[in-house]
Amino acid sequence: MQRDELARRFLAVRGRSERLMAPLAAEDFRIQSMPDVSPPFWNLGHTSWFFAANVLRPLGREPGGFSGFDYTFNSYYEGIGPRLPRAQRGRVAQPTTAQVREYRAAVDAAMLAWIAACPEPELPALGEVLTIGIEHEQQHQELFVTEILHIRWSAPESLRTAYAPPHGVRAAVAETPLRAVEFAAATTTLGHDQPGFCWDNELPSHRVHTGAFALGDRLITNREWLAFVADGGYRRPLLWLSNGWNAMQQHGWQAPLYWQHGGGQWQRWTLRGLFDVAPELPVCHVSFYEADAFARWYGEQFAAWRHARLPRESEWEHAARVHGFDQRAGNLLDEDQDRCAFDVCAAGAAGPLRQLAGDVWEWTLSHYEPYPGYRPFAGALMEYNGKFMDNQRVLRGGSFATPRSQARRGYRNFWPADTRFQATGVRLLVDR
Ligand code: AVJ
Ligand code: FE
Repeated sequence: MQRDELARRFLAVRGRSERLMAPLAAEDFRIQSMPDVSPPFWNLGHTSWFFAANVLRPLGREPGGFSGFDYTFNSYYEGIGPRLPRAQRGRVAQPTTAQVREYRAAVDAAMLAWIAACPEPELPALGEVLTIGIEHEQQHQELFVTEILHIRWSAPESLRTAYAPPHGVRAAVAETPLRAVEFAAATTTLGHDQPGFCWDNELPSHRVHTGAFALGDRLITNREWLAFVADGGYRRPLLWLSNGWNAMQQHGWQAPLYWQHGGGQWQRWTLRGLFDVAPELPVCHVSFYEADAFARWYGEQFAAWRHARLPRESEWEHAARVHGFDQRAGNLLDEDQDRCAFDVCAAGAAGPLRQLAGDVWEWTLSHYEPYPGYRPFAGALMEYNGKFMDNQRVLRGGSFATPRSQARRGYRNFWPADTRFQATGVRLLVDR
């Protein structure tokens, strides 16, 4: 890749992170509303540290004057050294947000200097690690969007402040019954086999068998979730996995995260404020356990969906290979702030399978495991994905918080089964 192109892509992602944080107050930057939610100052520092540690340090070009930043902004790399425990990111006043901004500017300057000075033969290697840093920063843009949603929700209710202005008119979209899209048994491919970047965990692509199945043509909606709630879905242990039932009781789940009762009506907190639950919108902020229980309930309700379950990632990807994954049309996070929905949208786009790309990440039944022949990235980045292949489930498709250029058919997101603060939802499958 050309030098100019590298510099352009680097500056674009760095600028986007800052624009996303432009609406924040100084206080927002320091709040860790729960251990999983990093304060925004940490996000800004960590994404800079990632370039400093992985690009500049091996070259001896790391900017000076930022001692202690390695300790604060190393997220989880045992190979790099000791670090501030995750749950304490919101309990420190240093470095100040202004110092983090100085650090960011110094890293940017050093990176641009190296992009300009890097000898021609080393440019391909620089391009590779730079791309990883850019993709990493995009992952943190998504994390930031879901974190500021939680941070703003955590204020006393009378003081809650939306991140973005309320929607104008939301396009009215006709709700459609859930239709089953049929797939014959197949030997298909799982994994990244297209040009362009992918994470190590998307490789190697390999052949897999999928049985005959039918997949829901759209995401599960709030209307369907309201029926599950009204029918005692959260009170019927036989619908739930044992660990799910325990998690539900322990956390007191009675509805998706960010739902509350108000004026005899369910309402939901969003990045644009508090709204009545719109029945036609896809349900969002449910854990794997809730999604799994919902599938069992749905199978009891409707003969055509008897024994409904969540898709495996191989089935999901097969469906996306057959019908296409349209990253351009989905509800994803755009570069242009004004074009972002910052929330789920009603199922509108044409095509047999709607919302595969964007809106919400779709929980799959698949445990997050290495593909056969998986090799982690070399060096320090070997810790990036591989060491988390334990006790997590795979999600597919991307959400309204996922940068558009990052969403792709083979992208494997992963979270523990009780996670609710990410933009997560449900698509159903039945075996044929
Ligand atoms: C893929 C979203 C689970 O949040 O730990 C960020 C992304 N990896 N920095 C995570 C990530 C390293 C990752 N998830
Ligand atoms: Fe990170």
